Amino acid sequence: MEDLCLPPGIKLQWHRQLDSTNQHLLGQDAAQGVLVVADEQLAGRGRMQRTWQSPAGLNLYFSLALRPNQPARVWGTLPLAVGVGVADGLAALGFVPQLKWPNDILLAGKKTGGILLEARGAAVVAGVGLNVNQLDFPGLPQATSLAVVQGNALSRPKVLEAVLDALWRRYEQWCGCGPHEILQSWLHYDVLQDKEIEIFVQDRLISATVMGIAWDGSLRLRDAGGQELFVHSGDASIKDLDSWQNGETGRKKG
Ligand code: BTN
Repeated sequence: MEDLCLPPGIKLQWHRQLDSTNQHLLGQDAAQGVLVVADEQLAGRGRMQRTWQSPAGLNLYFSLALRPNQPARVWGTLPLAVGVGVADGLAALGFVPQLKWPNDILLAGKKTGGILLEARGAAVVAGVGLNVNQLDFPGLPQATSLAVVQGNALSRPKVLEAVLDALWRRYEQWCGCGPHEILQSWLHYDVLQDKEIEIFVQDRLISATVMGIAWDGSLRLRDAGGQELFVHSGDASIKDLDSWQNGETGRKKG
């Protein structure tokens, strides 16, 4: 990993094994641009207190220290900027990625990556897990990897370079111009737009149609009674998932 070509401003710390790259970076009070990459995580963290399976030698697990300059009221769009960046990087490698609010990265309708942002004061740690060469996902029927979709193994350093290059561009765009362009680009990858979904809102399962993403990064819904509502966190499940998944291949044609 030493010879990686990374955007100027990113400083790599590589570890063979860590509990969690997010946890490691949160404990450092790191400057913007410090990048922690681990070959294996023993306690990889997912959203909503879940764990992130992080076996050695197969995938990418990394965390990037950010010092966002935009006002805190729009920080809810930062995970979306990271998602769009990761998706841009995968598209540059010939994949057809999709994004599921708030931070799932999908290929061929299945989850190939996830994003976990954690803030401590003025510092934000953006953690990304990307399934690259893993082929089996015991107990996770909705998981996939770049190698499963492409049909052969990929170079993890090359994937990391492509993803970080694009992610850093999107972060600079977000810092320089605010979230507007990011929200526009999100639409290009969005799997939920106009879909019928189910989502828990304050412990109540509701069915609704996705109307889009609001300026602050929340999910804008219309429920069966025509009421508009905004959801700030949660997991949306698409109704009629099977027919949607069957139409997706995850790779560019030709
Ligand atoms: C999710 O989809 O639930 C988010 C998963 C985020 C996993 C990554 S792996 C690198 C970084 N370190 C962690 O402990 N978690 C994130």
